[in-house]
Amino acid sequence: TKQYRITLLPGDGIGPEIMAVTVEVLKVVGKQHKIEFAFEEALIGGAAIDATGEPLPAKTLEICRSSDAVLLAAIGGYKWDNLPRQQRPETGLLALRGGLNLFANLRPATILPQLIDASTLKREVVEGVDIMVVRELTGGIYFGQPKGIFETETGEKRGVNTMAYTESEIDRIAKIGFETAQKRRGKLCSVDKANVLDVSQLWRDRVTAMAANYPNVELTHLYVDNAAMQLVRAPKQFDTIVTGNLFGDILSDAAAMLTGSIGMLPSASLGLDGLGVFEPVHGSAPDIAGQDQANPLAQILSAAMMLRYGLNEPEAATKIEQAVIKVLDQGYRTGDIMSAGMKAVGCREMGEVLIKVLES
Ligand code: NAD
Ligand code: IPM
Ligand code: MN
Repeated sequence: TKQYRITLLPGDGIGPEIMAVTVEVLKVVGKQHKIEFAFEEALIGGAAIDATGEPLPAKTLEICRSSDAVLLAAIGGYKWDNLPRQQRPETGLLALRGGLNLFANLRPATILPQLIDASTLKREVVEGVDIMVVRELTGGIYFGQPKGIFETETGEKRGVNTMAYTESEIDRIAKIGFETAQKRRGKLCSVDKANVLDVSQLWRDRVTAMAANYPNVELTHLYVDNAAMQLVRAPKQFDTIVTGNLFGDILSDAAAMLTGSIGMLPSASLGLDGLGVFEPVHGSAPDIAGQDQANPLAQILSAAMMLRYGLNEPEAATKIEQAVIKVLDQGYRTGDIMSAGMKAVGCREMGEVLIKVLES
């Protein structure tokens, strides 16, 4: 029996609901694959602010560092939206990513045939779409200095953020982009705004230079505005996309809608030392929190990514992914992916039918 220490960060809003369901799924899969999980829960986001005054208590970071992988649900909510920036839930999440040096965020958007009717786009546009967004996660405008709201000489306020990337920051994420494309269909599209931004020109220069090391990868470049348009116009042209922090945040939400719902999209946040945070692409969905309406599948698929990329347990990961497909085949749908003739379930029931499939 293999043993893993997993830190659970349920966070806020629908976070605790989708986390509870996911832990039950992991327990069942663990038993089947002779994997023992030691789960330890820790505080982040609004829940941590309420309990300790800080969005990422030092103890949480310590617990994460001493574990084999971190499973995060989501943070944030109206209640904390007007606190000073340093005390916001989002600041805790950024501190977690920065603190663990998780510079590479893999966000796969795969269209399952069962969910084509849940997409807002036409069947022929989305059928067969399989995209991996490689998002830089610890740099760019999210972290650049200076930042803040400053007073000008005339007494007016001025809000400032800085988009900056060093060569080494670009190189390490570009490398992940090329390697990811190599393992997939060999196409890498780098997305930037090099026609306007100097930081993007450096990005494009470095990515272009690196292409020589990957002769079997076909590299293209798009400006981010065009990329957003192409993602909804003809998403099948994309295989792997590599881009900076803010562009990746926006494009991955857009890519999510190709699949029917953001409630389906998992992600893996990885660094170089093997410790990863596995988190859905969506947020805490305060509009449906506490109502047992959330789709837990993005969280459950994030747990599958944890097994695959974080713990090197690909068989258990595949088992979960196949079970997800099977419950969709059986017609079970949460509200966000509902379509005509399907069976409506809540968050908890989705977990229960999934476990039934796993155990059958
Ligand atoms: P959101 O992703 O939370 O919600 C956007 C919309 O998608 C909402 O209508 C919501 O109900 C729906 N949705 C999201 N996840 C769903 C799921 N699993 N099942 C069904 N429907 C789902 O984005 P938002 O409303 O812009 O942000 C809400 C809060 O979450 C904010 O405080 C924001 O900062 C935070 N946030 C956190 C993360 C994270 O923790 N990684 C990510 C994004 C946003
Ligand atoms: C995400 C979220 C976060 C981000 C926020 C909540 C800090 O939108 O994980 O996509 O912008 O990275
Ligand atoms: Mn986002």
